[in-house]
Amino acid sequence: MRLKDKVAIITGAASGIGRATAELFAREGARVVVADKNGEGAAEVARLIGNGSIAVTTDVSRSADVRKMIDATTEAFGRIDILINNAGFGIAATVVDTDEDDWDRLMSVNLRGTFLCSKYAIPVMAQVGGGAIVNTGSYTAVVGIASRAAYVASKGAICSLTRAMAIDHVGQNIRVNAVAPGTIGSPYFDAMFAQADDPAKLRQTLEARAPMNRMGRPDEIARAMLWLASDEASFATGSVMTVDGGTSIW
Ligand SMILES: NC(=O)c1ccc[n+]([C@@H]2O[C@H](COP(=O)([O-])OP(=O)(O)OC[C@H]3O[C@@H](n4cnc5c(N)ncnc54)[C@H](O)[C@@H]3O)[C@@H](O)[C@H]2O)c1
Repeated sequence: MRLKDKVAIITGAASGIGRATAELFAREGARVVVADKNGEGAAEVARLIGNGSIAVTTDVSRSADVRKMIDATTEAFGRIDILINNAGFGIAATVVDTDEDDWDRLMSVNLRGTFLCSKYAIPVMAQVGGGAIVNTGSYTAVVGIASRAAYVASKGAICSLTRAMAIDHVGQNIRVNAVAPGTIGSPYFDAMFAQADDPAKLRQTLEARAPMNRMGRPDEIARAMLWLASDEASFATGSVMTVDGGTSIW
């Protein structure tokens, strides 16, 4: 019970890594605010994990939604101890091929969403004596990857923002770290397999990205989120923990 009685907001928690993190955090004793733009999916996860968890339909790119999410959390639990900024998505395109509106849409979710949720959660965390924020970067923030220009840029910025926030809020006893996952078998990739001409070949290509020659599982990222969010990581702030089966060491 490493998160006993902690209140944790997890964005993008209806699916994949966010969902696995919500499940693990609830098992570790946290009361989870399952925040996702997919309200039905969020409600299902909150019901399944129990432990007093609630669902809040939230589009993290919209300030009004984020403020509503913070209000719903303080109304239900009176505090915020942990914020997991996980909501995000990718676009497969080079700079030349990326549509301008798609660029803005991706940045507004991945980067602005991380900014907005942190902006409104930090003052509440500070009021209760501190807390922990874990952002979701990617191994692609440090190594090149083809045809993911906007995504890679957003993840690089999230890692930089992690360090900036860590410095700004260390005096309020708020730790800010990031996890940089490798290629993780989540519904994001299930959708890609469903559309692929040769799903088996695509899977092989994705698995071969890592020296471990496999994709990671959402629960393997959730465990890194758990450590960084828990008091066990009491001396860790401003760090980016890579969990990628070795992909970035090739
Ligand atoms: N899967 C991977 O290989 C991988 C690798 C590195 C980083 N990541 C990052 O991990 C995070 C989760 O990815 P995943 O693979 O679990 O994806 P996923 O598609 O399975 O889940 C993403 C969730 O975020 C929600 N979401 C999307 N836009 C939102 C918005 N505007 N507001 C609120 N919720 C929103 C979706 O509804 C969905 O429930 C993302 O930030 C992603 O970039 C994933």
